[in-house]
Amino acid sequence: MPDISFPPFDSASFRRALGHYATGVAVITGLGDKDERFGLTVSSFNSVSLDPPLVLFSIDRAARSLPLLLAAEGYAVNILCRNQDHLSNRFARYGGDKWTSVEHTHGHAQAPLLPDTLAHFECVHYAHYDGGDHVICVGRVLTFSWNEAERPLIFFRGAYRDLHLEA
Ligand SMILES: Cc1cc2nc3c(=O)[nH]c(=O)nc-3n(C[C@H](O)[C@H](O)[C@H](O)COP(=O)(O)O)c2cc1C
Repeated sequence: MPDISFPPFDSASFRRALGHYATGVAVITGLGDKDERFGLTVSSFNSVSLDPPLVLFSIDRAARSLPLLLAAEGYAVNILCRNQDHLSNRFARYGGDKWTSVEHTHGHAQAPLLPDTLAHFECVHYAHYDGGDHVICVGRVLTFSWNEAERPLIFFRGAYRDLHLEA
């Protein structure tokens, strides 16, 4: 990094400005070492590369799921649909058993797949990068599926939104 002196920075405003970038919502799920399931909600999911097929997301270094994710052989990205904000809230909460009464099947490396989502991507680790207080995770996609009939859950300005499709 070049030697630059940075001006004072208002993190709360920065966060607010970032919230103006509308995103979808995904839950990253997997089975860590000691057979412990993990799941956490992210809005930082994005596409990276078609060949090889790569996706990315960033995880807070303080997230309890991070060591489990890094230890897992693979993981799933579950893209939520409009009526799944309850799953987003459940997997964004701190502590407790997030999995009580959550239906799921299993994908690659026993990663839990949430039912009736907009799309799934089953991944193995491709690379990890330093992202400041986050770790940037790049996954190589092994398989995927999607549901044409559903609408996405959108996150914008700190709230869940619906997508109004034009006729
Ligand atoms: C809509 C939404 C998007 C989020 N996006 C991210 C994200 O991209 N990366 C991240 O680390 N946390 C994100 N979070 C916060 C985590 O889901 C939350 O901190 C969670 O409690 C982490 O769980 P864990 O500590 O059990 O791993 C988001 C939360 C919400 C509600």
